[in-house]
Amino acid sequence: MTGRNPVEDVEALVAEARRVYRDNFGEDPSVAVCAPGRVNLIGEHTDYNEGFVLPMALHLVTVMVGSSTSGQSCSVVTIAESADEPRKVDFNLPTDSAPLTGGQPVWANYVKGVVQHYRAQPLPAFKAVIASSVPLGGGLSSSASLEVAVYTFLQQLCPDDGDKIAKALACQKAEHTHAGVPCGIMDQFISVLGKEGHALLIDCRSLEATAVPLADPGLVILITNSNVKHALTGSEYPSRRKQCEEAAAIMGKSSLRDATLQHLEDAKNRLDSVTYRRVRHVIEETERTAKAAEALKRGAYQEFGKLMVESHNSLRDLYEVSCPELDVLVTAAMEVDGVFGSRMTGGGFGGCTVSLLQSDATERTMKHIKERYSGSPAFYITTPSNGARLLSV
Ligand code: ADP
Ligand code: GAL
Repeated sequence: MTGRNPVEDVEALVAEARRVYRDNFGEDPSVAVCAPGRVNLIGEHTDYNEGFVLPMALHLVTVMVGSSTSGQSCSVVTIAESADEPRKVDFNLPTDSAPLTGGQPVWANYVKGVVQHYRAQPLPAFKAVIASSVPLGGGLSSSASLEVAVYTFLQQLCPDDGDKIAKALACQKAEHTHAGVPCGIMDQFISVLGKEGHALLIDCRSLEATAVPLADPGLVILITNSNVKHALTGSEYPSRRKQCEEAAAIMGKSSLRDATLQHLEDAKNRLDSVTYRRVRHVIEETERTAKAAEALKRGAYQEFGKLMVESHNSLRDLYEVSCPELDVLVTAAMEVDGVFGSRMTGGGFGGCTVSLLQSDATERTMKHIKERYSGSPAFYITTPSNGARLLSV
């Protein structure tokens, strides 16, 4: 379980990255930055439909330390043991005739993608080390935090115009082109713009965000990692996105954000039953997310929790992206007195659940989940943190 001092956690990561940098490059790095992972409180599979999401940035971060160098060759090392080998890569800065493309190892594609789409020139070559406390592939957006950390690092070497939304969009583009994942904007947005003590209600159409206070000491946001990741994730995510886009086209809408339940009923005989369910989830989830943000502002935690459970049930039954492990974790959490709500978070098919509870219920909730879940869960007690930032090296 991590619930330690977040400042110390980041300092320890920087110290470790510095040590590995010195071992590899024989000198000290001149720059250190970090970018957080995220948990989404509600609003799942709505971002790429231009709906609402309500994520918060975590104290779990990806750190990047390094320095610019002369020449064209970049050298990057990751400390992450679960990243694929080799964990040190060399590549040349991109040119118009030789852009950076995806390849092996997979982890380096996130770095290369961001270098390719960086929004200022001339970018110098660099050496860097990456360290992270975000579990890789755990559904807490280690990949987006890596992208945003790389971008933030490059900003120190060659400043861009400072436009934060454009930064998030460039990182999202890197994930599309170099990691092959057609993700929405939520993860990169919150990793750039996260605000301590607040969740962000993001309108994924206008890209406007409203900060919703979330710093009640009587409340805990508990993340439970199922520690499973089903292979389905890779194929199901793009297929869900395609189903939504096709449904919007059939309904004559530019995105499902413009669709209402009445529109859905009107189009029912033109949609197959699976697509009908997908669309219903998206329309209702967008509405639920707006309602949930209102409830949170009022401190109506019971109401918020009820919406979380409805969201989970809809992801399980209509959008069909949950799995037995996540369902058990949610059921177990909801059996505990003092738990307001619980749901799967992120893309689905494994990864994490997020639960909202009274702080005095934390110990018994974790104990009960451990008893009920046959796998090995990991727990994170979290508070909303800031987005990407420069650190002292
Ligand atoms: P997540 O929910 O954690 O973003 P993904 O499967 O989308 O899960 O992305 C995880 C992948 O991102 C890893 O397998 C690895 O390729 C890359 N990655 C994330 N963090 C790091 C890191 N610190 N070092 C190297 N690669 C990383
Ligand atoms: C994530 C994806 C996000 C969002 C989420 C589901 O994996 O990166 O953009 O679509 O799934 O809400």
